[in-house]
Amino acid sequence: MSNPLAGKEILLGVSGSIAAYKAVELASRLTKQGAIVSTILTDSAVKFVNPISFQSVTGQKAYIEADLWGSEGHVTHIGLGHKADFFAIAPASANTIAKLANGIADNLLTVTAIACHCPMLIAPAMDAGMFDHVATQSNVAILKERGVHFSGPMPGHLASGLVGVGRMSEPQDIHARIRYLLSKSGPLTGKKIMVTAGGTQEAIDPVRRITNRSSGKQGVAIAQAAADAGAEVTLIIAPHYLCLPDGIKIIDVVSAAEMHTAVMQHIPAQDVLIMSAAVADFRPIENETKIKKGKGIPQLVLEQTEDILLAVHQQKQKDNLDLKVIGFAAESDHLLEHASQKVQSKGLDMIVANDISKPNVGFSGDTNQVSLVLADGTIENYPLMQKSEVADLILQKIALWSS
Ligand SMILES: Cc1cc2nc3c(=O)[nH]c(=O)nc-3n(C[C@H](O)[C@H](O)[C@H](O)COP(=O)(O)O)c2cc1C
Repeated sequence: MSNPLAGKEILLGVSGSIAAYKAVELASRLTKQGAIVSTILTDSAVKFVNPISFQSVTGQKAYIEADLWGSEGHVTHIGLGHKADFFAIAPASANTIAKLANGIADNLLTVTAIACHCPMLIAPAMDAGMFDHVATQSNVAILKERGVHFSGPMPGHLASGLVGVGRMSEPQDIHARIRYLLSKSGPLTGKKIMVTAGGTQEAIDPVRRITNRSSGKQGVAIAQAAADAGAEVTLIIAPHYLCLPDGIKIIDVVSAAEMHTAVMQHIPAQDVLIMSAAVADFRPIENETKIKKGKGIPQLVLEQTEDILLAVHQQKQKDNLDLKVIGFAAESDHLLEHASQKVQSKGLDMIVANDISKPNVGFSGDTNQVSLVLADGTIENYPLMQKSEVADLILQKIALWSS
């Protein structure tokens, strides 16, 4: 399962907006993910940002207007247009959007846009009044009608000092969108995959909660890998501080009870459920009012939470659901024994077991060391790896089951 940006030829068009400097970060992000990024700057863009900045972060040529009339290529715009897998224009000025909507091809960026037939994403950036203008709105509508994708513009503070809708989307969001759009023909296209992530929080009283050390990173990496493989992804996630993948359905929950409700509501439509969330096993019997200091040390009385995997197993049997279920086992002792028992008792197709007593494994960090325990008893042990690599391993199994 590979990152859909790896080896892709991406054309990055940069037009004359104050946001042009942000395009350097976008170029850098795409390059770090393995894309081959060639930049085309309009004359106005060059007034805001130097082509050398793009060449430095991408290692590829940054084209300027002069390259249209005799650079190394025979016909530069045709060459660039034909080799592109994706054309992103960020920032896109009102002027460039108007030219694109009307087929005007009077500079290297716009003539290349006409010469190229790959998917296109436009990230507008301009004053809110310019974006609101009927001319811009109708140009955007024409381009959307033609299948061009848009990212933003976003609300916020504008260079004019005013607040409104006109800011260019953040580079990480444009990058996530491009990655998502390039994943559309992956091996899991058409599959519906639901992932749970994060550590649930259980209320002690209206102010306090108990939770666990899960960051949600592994679940989010799985959701990203599933989206990269073309699946339709639903992510049910407990409170977190993570940047989430683009193009997936997000359901925010807080407690084990909320996660249980969300999972049960959505499983009938899914092909695969991956329960990577750290769901509380116990919750306090909640106090309706805040526990006051000065009345002695309170005793917390706990009760059992819903066993989501068991409930899914029972529902699967009752409704004869065609659903593959992957569980997670975070254990600090007798890891494989507990994981194998859980595969059987919860009717799982596979469990991802990690020994959280080991350094750099499990919670919070970017690495994990897992064993995959399959329903037939097979155990596959893996070395310490990035959580994104663990996600790929899991998605490879799903792709095998689906082929
Ligand atoms: C300081 C300054 C900032 C500008 N910022 C924007 C902007 O954010 N968005 C926009 O559409 N035009 C903006 N413009 C106007 C464009 O640069 C102008 O329309 C230009 O012709 C666009 O050319 P291009 O589309 O070929 O890059 C700005 C102009 C100046 C002088």
